[in-house]
Amino acid sequence: MNLLKHCKDFRLMHLHLLALSFACVLADFELTAEYLSDLKADEALEIAAGEYNYDNQGNDWTGTCASGQKQSPIDLIYDDADVVSIPRIRFQNYNQQLQTPLVLVNNGHTANMVLPPTRRGERASISGGLLPGVFEAQSVHFHWGSANSKGSEHAINFERYDVEMHIVHKNTRYANLSVGEASAFSDGLAVLGVMFRARPRPISQHYGLNKVFNALPRIIPYQSNTTITGMFNVGQLLGNIVTGEFYTYQGSLTTPDCAESVTWTVFKDVLDYPNAQIAKLWNLQDSRSRPLINTYRELQDINNRTISFRQL
Ligand SMILES: *[C@@H]1O[C@H](CO)[C@@H](O)[C@H](O)[C@H]1NC(C)=O
Ligand SMILES: *[C@@H]1O[C@H](CO)[C@@H](O)[C@H](O)[C@H]1NC(C)=O
Ligand SMILES: *[C@@H]1O[C@H](CO)[C@@H](O)[C@H](O)[C@H]1NC(C)=O
Ligand SMILES: [Zn+2]
Repeated sequence: MNLLKHCKDFRLMHLHLLALSFACVLADFELTAEYLSDLKADEALEIAAGEYNYDNQGNDWTGTCASGQKQSPIDLIYDDADVVSIPRIRFQNYNQQLQTPLVLVNNGHTANMVLPPTRRGERASISGGLLPGVFEAQSVHFHWGSANSKGSEHAINFERYDVEMHIVHKNTRYANLSVGEASAFSDGLAVLGVMFRARPRPISQHYGLNKVFNALPRIIPYQSNTTITGMFNVGQLLGNIVTGEFYTYQGSLTTPDCAESVTWTVFKDVLDYPNAQIAKLWNLQDSRSRPLINTYRELQDINNRTISFRQL
């Protein structure tokens, strides 16, 4: 990583600037080999997806994106859902601090953060719901609209929300495979979807989310990245939403190659988040240096799939 190389040169030149060089030492030593290799795998996945954009909300994407019968996102309609009695989502290590620094990247399609293991070396994971196993958290990213449009991917009862956050998890069954490789299997991935509603002013603290959103002005150009340091755990991303009520169904990745490998869990409760924070997303730029806005895929046909709803 050039970031690290740059860091070393910087240190040599400015050994006397103790505080600054200390920050570099931290970045240098704390990005573990495992995290670096996860970052590489994530970058490889982006490259494998090829060139695509949101000019037509994904209607011009090809392959499985065009031919698939279990595609995402969809409209989640209560009246069409099976109200089922299933376990709640169980969160393991969601409250454990992660190894930091974390790297936040503008990959031209979203702001993406690969999630490292916790400081104890375990992974944040989920089970329960209709999940076919235990799934470990791999990365988090967002979908958004613009100053005058909402940009969630799923809709709930015909309503689109301002932002949708995706926390991508991989089945522990495929521990030896990358996220891309696991996406070849129908039970490979599980994504948690969280809707955000823009509010004129802060309602609660959202300490973890603010760390991510406050870093967005540092990743405006395509392929830029920044690090987030200090205390951070995956649970903080969920704010204070109620996780006991959710829609769940079998679907796909919402970006090329749209692999049909995802057990979706979309929470009904919506996270209230300040509009001033959400607006930071609209400034990011894509690979053409155009504003990265309306980064959501068109709603897909349900095609006789069962949508389940867990009610409290
Ligand atoms: C972060 O940016 C630096 C400098 O442009 C680059 O060398 C490095 O590969 C980037 N890292 C990631 C994970 O994108
Ligand atoms: C996964 O990797 C471990 C260690 O590299 C190896 O012992 C194990 O056999 C592998 N499992 C599978 C299913 O390939
Ligand atoms: C639709 O799903 C139902 C119940 O799962 C099944 O009985 C029916 O055959 C399916 N219809 C089609 C056209 O796939
Ligand atoms: Zn997504």
